[in-house]
Amino acid sequence: MHLFPKPATWTVATYDGFTAATFLGCRQAAYRRLALDAGIGSGDRVLDLGSGPGTLTRAAADLAGSSGQVIGLDSSPEMVIHAQRLGGDSRVGDVARPPFADNSFDVVVSALALHHVEPEDRDAVFAQAFRMLIPGGRLLVAEFAPPFGRLGRAVARGVCHTEIADDPRADLVDRMAKAGFRRIETRRSGVLTVVRSIRPV
Ligand SMILES: C[S@@+](CC[C@H](N)C(=O)[O-])C[C@H]1O[C@@H](n2cnc3c(N)ncnc32)[C@H](O)[C@@H]1O
Repeated sequence: MHLFPKPATWTVATYDGFTAATFLGCRQAAYRRLALDAGIGSGDRVLDLGSGPGTLTRAAADLAGSSGQVIGLDSSPEMVIHAQRLGGDSRVGDVARPPFADNSFDVVVSALALHHVEPEDRDAVFAQAFRMLIPGGRLLVAEFAPPFGRLGRAVARGVCHTEIADDPRADLVDRMAKAGFRRIETRRSGVLTVVRSIRPV
């Protein structure tokens, strides 16, 4: 029993309130940093997996500019409608079964979404990202970093979910490597753990 259900079942307003609080009002700046870290540049074709309300999709679109194309993919129609209202190209779909062609993106990004995907589907998400990226394409995944200290982790485990309390790095690195990604790098950025890698040429 958790105080909060998984965000996939939250309303957009509840989710927005939760993340605004988590990022202490700096969510847009944190997501712009993720888009920059992913190396998104003018003209890039970008896919945002589990895009939710589209904050990262829009940050990516700002960097890709009018010559680029940025698409958000999310299984929640409510989130997709909300993201579309805010001006993003957001579509309903499953990140383990994305409806896009091979080699169709320069960059794939994903924030705070993978821990919502069923564990048995997670390898498929990385295999699909690999398939959809061009050789040399970049992948960036951000998940919650574990809270500092045993007390912080115990609170996270009790209030939220095991996936949020535990360190996701080893799991993300393993899955990326298994899918074929190379030059895998990890770093902590505030409340986020960021893992990025390259589809080899
Ligand atoms: C915590 S929200 C993160 C949203 C957004 N990336 C952000 O950082 O604000 C997780 C999102 O993943 C979506 N999601 C969960 N499982 C999914 C799946 N299998 N396919 C597509 N989207 C999924 C949920 O609908 C939800 O919008």
